[in-house]
Formats: sequence, structure tokens, C-alpha cells
Amino acid sequence: MTAPTPTALSAQGLVKRFKTGRTHVEVLKNVDFHARHGDVTMVMGPSGSGKSTLIAALSGLLKPDEGKVSAMGQDLWSRGAGKIDRFRLDHCGFIFQGFNLFPALTALQQVTTVLKYQGLSRSEARRVAIEALDEVGLKPRMHQRPSELSGGEKQRIAIARAIAKRPTLLFADEPTSALDGENGQVVIRLLRRAATEHNAAVICVTHDPRLEAFADRIIHIEDGRILAPGRD
Ligand SMILES: Nc1ncnc2c1ncn2[C@@H]1O[C@H](COP(=O)(O)OP(=O)(O)OP(=O)(O)O)[C@@H](O)[C@H]1O
Ligand SMILES: [Mg+2]
Repeated sequence: MTAPTPTALSAQGLVKRFKTGRTHVEVLKNVDFHARHGDVTMVMGPSGSGKSTLIAALSGLLKPDEGKVSAMGQDLWSRGAGKIDRFRLDHCGFIFQGFNLFPALTALQQVTTVLKYQGLSRSEARRVAIEALDEVGLKPRMHQRPSELSGGEKQRIAIARAIAKRPTLLFADEPTSALDGENGQVVIRLLRRAATEHNAAVICVTHDPRLEAFADRIIHIEDGRILAPGRD
């Protein structure tokens, strides 16, 4: 019998409200969630259903109004802002639809910058960054800037930046939506590998039904509620 995979992230009773004018809109309505090391957990649901808000609450970016998030055994939102920033820096990787690359930096610099923040020396950051760029197949492009790269290449740079620090939690919000089918497949294979080979808990928001086959668990969210618990 194999030991159960440990839970990397769990949340209970998440509620998030936004104020628009004089009314409050409840965007997360009592959401429970968990994700395990080594698993790709997909979050699917229509536009406006609360997917990005959920990712933000789980990753320490946006404080929920109610509920609790436990990340790697610790209560995330009970910590001070500095500790939450540190937690994100040390343990989380982020991949967004818009790539979020710095226009002036080369591919190599995009990745080394984050590693230096983490405290790696210049030469160590360079070594780790080149390894990560190699993993996404972009070592030959490492001296090019975002304006000299295709959409798929930019997204792979963003992935290299996110995986270079071997994050325990890897959050991806619509990582394939700006890409054609082939580049989308490359991206999802890289996410799959981060989970399988590096034991990350990968939490991926998507509209894209082609990605379902790569998931270990699929969570459906609609109007701020989890619909079905999905496969476990
Ligand atoms: N800062 C905010 N202030 C007010 N309302 C907000 C805010 N952020 C999000 N919302 C609202 O919350 C709802 C959920 O937004 P969210 O971004 O989580 O949706 P989503 O599922 O990620 O959608 P999409 O697939 O389009 O990215 C939306 O109706 C949105 O308008
Ligand atoms: Mg969104």
C-alpha cells in the first residue's frame, strides 16, 4: 500500500465579497478546496465564476472575508503581511495568462531576478536559471527580450521563472488561453512535469477542456460555489 500523498494546500469556508457601489457581491460562497503534492488540480468554470479570486485567496494575494487557508500545514492568513510575502517568494510559483514579463530584461534575466530575490548568489542564480530555461526548451533564446519572442515562447519563459525555484505550490491562471493548440500542449506538459517530477502541487485554472486529460483532479466552480467534488 502506498502512503497517501500529503495535502499541500487546503481551504475551508472561503467567502470573498467585493463592494460595488452600495452593494456587496459575494464572489466566493463558502468554498472548500484542497490540493496535494504531485497532483495537477484543475479549476474549471465560466467567466466570472470566481476562479481567479479563489487562486488569489489560496496564494496569499487577496485576503478572504471568511474562512481559512492552510498552506503546508500553517494557517496562511493569520500571518503578518511580511510573512505572507516571504511565503509566496519561498514556496509559490505563478504563471498568468498575460505572461507578466519585464520588457527590458532578457529571458535569462527574467529568471535570475527572482532567484536573486530568494538569496541565491549571481553565479548560482545563473546556473539554476539556465537549467530551468533548458527544461522548457528555450536555452537557445536566453539572451532575447520578450519583444523578440513568440507568445508560446513568452509563456515558457514565464514557466521557467516559476519552476526555477522549485516551488511547492505552482499556481497557473489560464496559462494556455493566449496560445495555439500545440503551444498549449507544451505548457500543460511542463505543468504536469512540475507535479510529477518535482512534486509540486499544481493548481491550474482553465476554460480549456483539452487540459482535462492531464489533471489528477478537476474542480468545477460556478457562481462562487464548488459544484462537484470531482475525482479524488
Ligand atoms: N476587485 C474587484 N471588485 C469588484 N468585483 C470584482 C473584483 N474582482 C473580481 N470581481 C468580480 O468577481 C467575480 C469573479 O471574478 P474572477 O476574476 O474571480 O472570475 P474568473 O472566474 O477568474 O473569470 P474569468 O474566467 O473571466 O477570468 C466577477 O464577477 C468580477 O467582476
Ligand atoms: Mg480569471
